[in-house]
Amino acid sequence: MGPLAVELFGKKFKNPVMNASGTLGYAVEIEPLWGVETMGACVTKGLSALAHHGNPVPRVWEERHGMINSIGLQNVGVERFFSDHFPFFVEKNTPIIVNFFGFSEDEYLSCAEKIRPHELIAALEMNLSCPNIKKGGISFGKEASTVYSMVRSVKGITDIPLIAKLTPEVKNLTEIAIAAYEAGADGLTLINTLPAAAVDVKKRNVPLKGGLSGPILRPVALRAVHECSKAVPIPIIGVGGIMDAQDALAFFMAGASAVQVGTATFVDPFAIPKIIAGMEAWLVSAGLDSIRAITGVTHE
Ligand SMILES: Cc1cc2nc3c(=O)[nH]c(=O)nc-3n(C[C@H](O)[C@H](O)[C@H](O)COP(=O)(O)O)c2cc1C
Repeated sequence: MGPLAVELFGKKFKNPVMNASGTLGYAVEIEPLWGVETMGACVTKGLSALAHHGNPVPRVWEERHGMINSIGLQNVGVERFFSDHFPFFVEKNTPIIVNFFGFSEDEYLSCAEKIRPHELIAALEMNLSCPNIKKGGISFGKEASTVYSMVRSVKGITDIPLIAKLTPEVKNLTEIAIAAYEAGADGLTLINTLPAAAVDVKKRNVPLKGGLSGPILRPVALRAVHECSKAVPIPIIGVGGIMDAQDALAFFMAGASAVQVGTATFVDPFAIPKIIAGMEAWLVSAGLDSIRAITGVTHE
């Protein structure tokens, strides 16, 4: 194991770099370019109990310092993921983190129940940014009490480590992070996209409303990681606008124990392997033998 090796949720990973959910398809798509086993773990596209077709096009919009997406959580459903896509990860001997969602508590539970423990399933990542249809569409992640009860319910039905992925669109993210921790979350992923809209000036319309990601989000994500890492003792996976190794290192210094890379892959499909190589080279040149040496090292 090299200087990037980490231990999270009682499991060892060869490096702390993963793709962000929804930005690498089912991972097999990237194979002609680089091997999925390059990453410490692969995060699945958000899965649900039943398949979803997603939204009509346009689904993505390029912004000056980021992008807006409105994919609509398209996925094949959790059962088909395990019959059709999981064997690929077994063949590649690559740990996965299963991102999942629902539009009601029952949907989250029935999805999580279908995921049986396996040595390659490192954790479940619960996307709490989804709208709760029973509460007029307000996102689960917006209220500490809802986050607490959702995390607690899922913890009650699975032995797989559970990561709560939080939305930054809240008044007090630290309070939400504490609620997730107190309910038993084994880790947090910070952050999901921010709500945004695009305006097409030529057509004078709004072609897309969706989630904003990319470099424009990075300072928001860094603040979330910095504040929450001081508030809870569980590992935090930092995500939002990481484009290169320096960006990734900043997240560790802010208090993250691992990072995910999303939008950068749309700009450069080799971004993830380049980030991993760049982080390792930086540690070696700084004379550090472990990434842990720089975790949470910022001072006021
Ligand atoms: C095209 C696209 C699809 C996404 N799909 C999901 C998803 O299914 N589940 C989820 O939790 N987050 C999803 N996200 C959010 C990312 O995982 C990540 O939190 C966000 O994009 C910020 O990271 P980035 O700036 O590196 O892209 C998606 C993001 C993009 C751009």
